Amino acid sequence: MKNSFLNGHKRFLDLYNKKPEVVSSAPGRINIIGEHTDYNLGFVLPACIDRNIQFLAKRRKDDRVSVWAENFQESEHFFIHDLQVSSTKKWVNYVKGIFWVLEKEGYSLGGLDALIIGDIPLESGLSSSAALEVSVLNALNKLFHLSLSKEKIVRLSQKAENDFVGVNCGLMDQFISVFGRKNTALFLDCGTLFYEHVPLSLEEHGLNIVVYDSRVRRELSASEYNKRSLESGAALKILKTSGVKNFKEADNDLLEDNKDKMGDILYRRARHVITENQRVNNAVRVLKERDFHKLGELLFESHLSLRDDYEVSCPELDLLYAVGKKFGGCLGARLTGAGFGGSGIALVEKTQTDDFINKLKKESEDHKFTAPVFYVVTIGEGAYVK
Ligand code: GLA
Repeated sequence: MKNSFLNGHKRFLDLYNKKPEVVSSAPGRINIIGEHTDYNLGFVLPACIDRNIQFLAKRRKDDRVSVWAENFQESEHFFIHDLQVSSTKKWVNYVKGIFWVLEKEGYSLGGLDALIIGDIPLESGLSSSAALEVSVLNALNKLFHLSLSKEKIVRLSQKAENDFVGVNCGLMDQFISVFGRKNTALFLDCGTLFYEHVPLSLEEHGLNIVVYDSRVRRELSASEYNKRSLESGAALKILKTSGVKNFKEADNDLLEDNKDKMGDILYRRARHVITENQRVNNAVRVLKERDFHKLGELLFESHLSLRDDYEVSCPELDLLYAVGKKFGGCLGARLTGAGFGGSGIALVEKTQTDDFINKLKKESEDHKFTAPVFYVVTIGEGAYVK
């Protein structure tokens, strides 16, 4: 992290011939368990990874924003009172979205010279977009003395993505990027925003989390994600006729009572959300008991539910599940994030990690899949600004 901080600083000097006033950094995440539950106001258990996006900036005297994106080797500029969605440079929409949401809330801003630099793999389901939103917002908060609370930063970042970028995401990714802590997972009730840090000391237990990037790219804004959100909303509407206010209050019996009113698709969407909420609660309990084998079982169950009930998996992510299930040193595996491609995670014994990765590489080749990329991640800190 220190190195990329130094590189960012140097790069900024090269580009603009002056020092940045602010260096803002925000991490990507894995979600241990609790998928597609956040926008259904349920439970999630994500953790930050040790990979970040940094936004370095210095104020200008006019209202022009110039940004260089190191990972794309591209620049873009815009004016803060004329914010249009770009169809060619998608990355800039996350920056514009933050200006847009702040302007809309009545905050007074100015122009910037800025640099985006980072090491979160892009479009891999590891939340590089939320990290970018949070790092930009934290930087503007400091530069323009906005006095935004952490919770407000989460809400505004989510709003930028919902209303400017056009993805109806929940707030898990922004929340963990802001509130995450080293070597802990974060239990969050997305309905009440009650949260609790739960220790996740993998090292002590001889375990690794392996991220398997399938390299199947599906844009999050692709209609399928928003469609799931509409479907689960429709399912909840039916459940509400039985007196519950949200999915958290619904149990399996109530779901069965409503099965005939729902039709197969809405029934399975609701079953995923209800059982996934239960799995998150169970995961928190077993993590506190340091029972990683039970945690692993919950990960496998979650994958099946996402594959069969919520239908957000793909053959490459199903391979991770299948190999994980048979491999002795793998305690659990599942897709992480939105799905439809992107990444999965596996909880693997340290001593078995290389063999596990080699096995998956070989199986991917046999299936003629695009070669996946692997990262052994550690659980890193949440966002900071200097
Ligand atoms: C994406 C979204 C999150 C969440 C996950 C699925 O990462 O940004 O809000 O809905 O998908 O759990």
